[in-house]
Amino acid sequence: MGKIEKVIEKIEDAETGVAFTGAGVSAPSGLSTFRGSDGIWENKDPRELASPSGFRKNPQLVWDWYNSRRDKIKEVNPNEAHKSLKLMEDYFREFSIVTQNVDNLHKEAGSDEVVELHGNIFRNKCSNCGRVVSEDVDSREVVECEECGGLIRPAVVWFGEPLPVESLQVAKEMATSCDICFIIGTSGLVQPAASIPLVARESGAFLVEINRESTVISDYVDISLNGDAAKILPLIVENLQNG
Ligand code: OAD
Repeated sequence: MGKIEKVIEKIEDAETGVAFTGAGVSAPSGLSTFRGSDGIWENKDPRELASPSGFRKNPQLVWDWYNSRRDKIKEVNPNEAHKSLKLMEDYFREFSIVTQNVDNLHKEAGSDEVVELHGNIFRNKCSNCGRVVSEDVDSREVVECEECGGLIRPAVVWFGEPLPVESLQVAKEMATSCDICFIIGTSGLVQPAASIPLVARESGAFLVEINRESTVISDYVDISLNGDAAKILPLIVENLQNG
């Protein structure tokens, strides 16, 4: 039996599924990943651009960088990987996305249940009082909080910061109760997010990795599908539809 056939069989037997996703899922839309030769962190310093101390040192630099990322993300659309993950919902009683991506593309593709472990680049919050800013912030200059005067920052998780407690909790519960866990387009290097597939495995889930390269997660998955998520996921859904 081929690998895809085995995955189809497992999906047909499963009731609940989780897809744990990373930047590789959005790469086919035209967004850069973080690591690797053309990754964002190859020529940019995350301590300057994505840490509380970087923001304290130069808030405008950080704000400009997030604005440029927001501009880029607004130009792109969900790709076949996001769309296939939406379609996958039809084959499970419960199917959820646990993503490290902040680009909102899973929601744009229509996925019903999306847990954003690293926040969402289109939301903002006060760096001082933590208030989530609901009013539109489209200023090119860093703005101040209307409540406390602190500086407004993107509501994403930065290096050295904890993950939103509730999102992590919900993600762990999903991982604990799923029959099958897909790990798609992530290097699996950033903790604690990367512990989600381990939690799924320890709870007895069948693990399927989809990635262009092998990763630190590859050693403990049941099946590795090597290649482009925007090609492999449609193939899986097509097989399910014809099955
Ligand atoms: P990485 O850049 O670390 O890894 C991207 C992964 O996607 C790599 O393993 C690639 O091989 C794979 N990949 C690239 N294109 C692909 C494609 N078309 N199909 C399948 N796989 C593909 O990105 P993440 O693992 O998401 O955190 O990074 C995790 C976190 O590190 C991010 O959320 C971000 C970053 O620093 C924060 O900003 C807090």
